[in-house]
Amino acid sequence: RVLRGSPRDLAGRRVVVSAGGTREAIDPVRFIGNRSSGLQGYALARTAVARGAEVTLIAANVTLPDPAGVKVVRVESTAQLREAVLSASEGADAVVMAAAVADFRPVTRATSKIKKTSDDPEAIRLTKNPDILAELGVRRTQARNSATPADGTPADGTPADGTPADGTAAGGTLADGTAAEGVAASGTAAGGGVGGPAVIVGFAAETDDVLANGQAKLARKGCDLLVVNQVGEHLAFGTPDNAATILVAGGDPVEVPRGPKEDLADTLWSLVAARLAE
Ligand code: CTP
Ligand code: CA
Repeated sequence: RVLRGSPRDLAGRRVVVSAGGTREAIDPVRFIGNRSSGLQGYALARTAVARGAEVTLIAANVTLPDPAGVKVVRVESTAQLREAVLSASEGADAVVMAAAVADFRPVTRATSKIKKTSDDPEAIRLTKNPDILAELGVRRTQARNSATPADGTPADGTPADGTPADGTAAGGTLADGTAAEGVAASGTAAGGGVGGPAVIVGFAAETDDVLANGQAKLARKGCDLLVVNQVGEHLAFGTPDNAATILVAGGDPVEVPRGPKEDLADTLWSLVAARLAE
């Protein structure tokens, strides 16, 4: 694809994109994972570079070659993705969570391969993974609230105290899919990430009640934009095309017709650039 005609509306901006899907080890040879190919996240990284951004791509189990001009950080598990995203997001202008994050992980990881016996195996007990997207929103709110306007000193951007490393949601502010109301209305911080990334974007793959689930998720996660895809067999995963509705906090949804994943990426970056310019 020819990207020469791209607007340079992300020049001087730092953006973070996560791509692919996380894997949670059961034993040294097995994992719980998902079907995400990373194609949409890589299209986002390429198009952001074409529009002038400095791009960090956090790639979870993606087999695609590194896009030119992009800093690529490869991760496997959700814990690794979380560390990489939170670290790269410090000072970033926008974060786009295109990665499919494993919602659950085994409570314990066997250190040796689980062998087949004459009996059925033990059930694998699962526990919830931290919600990285929701945590980004909570951290941004905390950083903004603790900023001291008197002398203009920004918060240090690391209000991690009390933030559980795993299982539960950030800082206790998000109890199990509730709270974070009001966060969605924000998104107008100064560039450079003072108080956290100015624009936080989520992706949601839904199979049923696509728009209603998407609207609820946008509010719950406290993000500014949520790209909602309908998924199912032969839809979205591993295909070069995508169709989506982009939900906008405090604005009207934007329909993106079926087309190359670059087109969806470009529409999304236009919305991000507009929010950054506000
Ligand atoms: N996400 C995340 N951390 C998780 C789960 C999801 O950061 N532990 C992000 C994804 O990267 C995506 C968005 O949240 O941008 C929505 O993911 P999705 O799986 O649709 O939402 P969930 O809250 O996990 O809800 P559910 O899977 O039950 O629909
Ligand atoms: Ca999920």
